[in-house]
Amino acid sequence: MIGGRRVLLAVTGGVAAFKAATLARLLIERDAQVRAMMTVPARKFLGSNTLAAITGHPVIVDLFNDAESVSPHTEAAEWADLVVVAPATAASVARLAQGLSSDPVTATIMAATCPVVVAPAMHTAMWKHPATQRNLDTLRSDGVAVLGPIVGRLAGGDRGPGRMMEPEELLEGIQALFAAPLRGVRVLVTAGGTREAIDPVRFLSNHSSGKMGHAVAAEAARRGAETTLVTCSPLPSPPAVKRVDVVSAHDMAEAVSSIEVDVAVMTAAVADFRPQKSHGSKLARSEGFNVLELAPTRDVLGEVVGRKTRPRVVVGFAAETGNVERAIGKARKKGVDLMVANDVTIPGSGFESDNNQVVLIRRNGEAEPWPLQAKSRVAAGLWDEVTRLLEEG
Ligand code: PMT
Repeated sequence: MIGGRRVLLAVTGGVAAFKAATLARLLIERDAQVRAMMTVPARKFLGSNTLAAITGHPVIVDLFNDAESVSPHTEAAEWADLVVVAPATAASVARLAQGLSSDPVTATIMAATCPVVVAPAMHTAMWKHPATQRNLDTLRSDGVAVLGPIVGRLAGGDRGPGRMMEPEELLEGIQALFAAPLRGVRVLVTAGGTREAIDPVRFLSNHSSGKMGHAVAAEAARRGAETTLVTCSPLPSPPAVKRVDVVSAHDMAEAVSSIEVDVAVMTAAVADFRPQKSHGSKLARSEGFNVLELAPTRDVLGEVVGRKTRPRVVVGFAAETGNVERAIGKARKKGVDLMVANDVTIPGSGFESDNNQVVLIRRNGEAEPWPLQAKSRVAAGLWDEVTRLLEEG
């Protein structure tokens, strides 16, 4: 599992940096190839010579004065199968969430396409601060795995949540990541709101940001699936995901039609109607424009369900306004294996929000309400369900 894998251990500046040495040793004992990098503050807590001696390789500490490489961060990013940030301080979590590539660790992660794990370590007050929690939610929706922290004794003698996971626990978490339960499974995810052109400057669309779909794709890739994301959203691509950008329902249907998969998760808010006629040049006010004639769009989900080689599992999403019970009928009519219904009128949920409150509808019509939670958590729960369906056959 972990044997032969290339793990880049990135150490940032907290007291728990000393545990990174044990983690490096444990990884090497499991036959992983380990290289290390450290930020300047990390070296106040642990000497780079210690990690160099354990890993048998020089430690990257500087982006500019490295005698061996002109571009240490991109070379390290290309080399790694996994980056583990341990410990991850509140400041490094914040920099990562904002994409600030101001030190070797964040610059490398910005350049990496492999999975990333962070193991936060900080005082309880810093851990509980809304800014830290917001930053971690951002990282989770970018596909980063967050391991820990645990409750325990902290620097300064306090006790509470914020202590970095012990190296043995981190090793277990890293091994679980490499176990990749969806390895070999081909996954398609649609995301975002389609735009149906009225003329070259105007369109019909909806409020979908693509956050839900990108979180679903990120989680699939994190679990090892070969993931294609067909998206209308400008959000960045999750790591290790093949991306196809589309604009209209027709574009989405065309893109999806050539992708053979085992699992399709259709989170996109596809317009049901498009303007009958899309004008080639901008309509002028003086031309008068009172009536917009509409025509139905292609049913992307319907086309996937109706294929000769239907994916083994098809998941639909249903955006409802007030009555999620309607989604049970929609699930039956659409012929999906799972339907994820969300009431998009609930404040802080549905469109554009980082969170979602959904009801999972199974094949037998059973409806299971889930609490309001981060979209990354909805995605994780959804992939647990899909994995069960795949195992049942
Ligand atoms: O993108 P976010 O801002 O994160 O918001 C997430 C979300 C609210 C968009 C998402 O959670 C959601 O509910 N997605 C489905 C939106 C929708 O189009 O629902 P619907 O009930 O109209 O469609 C049902 C299903 O049919 C969906 O899987 C949809 O992708 C599919 N469909 C609909 C019409 C069409 N022409 N083709 C389709 O494939």
